[in-house]
Amino acid sequence: MPFVVAIDGPAASGKSSTAQWVARELGWRHVDSGAFYRAATAATLRTGAPPEAWTDEGVLAASARVGRRDAGTSVAPTLDGAPCDDEIRGPAVTGHVSLVARMPAVRAWVNAQVRAAAEAHHVVVDGRDMGTAVFPEATLKVFLVADPWERARRRLVQRLGRPAADDEIAAETDALVKRDAADATQTVQAADAVLIDTTYLTQVEQVERIVALARAAAARTG
Ligand code: DC
Repeated sequence: MPFVVAIDGPAASGKSSTAQWVARELGWRHVDSGAFYRAATAATLRTGAPPEAWTDEGVLAASARVGRRDAGTSVAPTLDGAPCDDEIRGPAVTGHVSLVARMPAVRAWVNAQVRAAAEAHHVVVDGRDMGTAVFPEATLKVFLVADPWERARRRLVQRLGRPAADDEIAAETDALVKRDAADATQTVQAADAVLIDTTYLTQVEQVERIVALARAAAARTG
């Protein structure tokens, strides 16, 4: 049975970058489940249907245009057969993805994509419900949290490539807290997850902790 490290947490808690790095350290594949919600959203936007008219069935039908690409270090979605990394991070997708992520049929579809990616390889998956709904038997479950102001600050540095001013961080914090509320029902900490608060940790420190936990868990279960 392949090993699964499931990393969950709220928006901008550093899940994806941490998961990517942990996967590289372990030599496993990284799977970002949020990218599949984003790809389903991008596919539906490409149909031209107005978002007010989107239904579970319509989004699911559009998701047939989404494929999986195994790049060796990660398994990521494609759209109409091509990589879609930039499109799925754009504002149009970000503005509509919460709506899509609330649709049960879409959640089932994403879960199937992520499970399929983990069938043949050891994986580090990140999202909101990887340790609960998708991989209840994961080798290791981690729930990452951080103070909203710090999450907003990190996100802005990443986006702007420079330190952010307090008023910029305040506006970003407000948007983040609203997104947390929109995604709250999907964001679940497993009872057996290790909680890591990254507010005062560097990324190197959080990666080292998770890699050590993953190696210990794999040695115990493998
Ligand atoms: O982590 P992200 O910002 O790329 O997530 C995009 C959206 O998908 C966000 O609205 C939360 C949702 N999501 C989810 O509901 N369950 C997951 N496992 C991953 C993401």
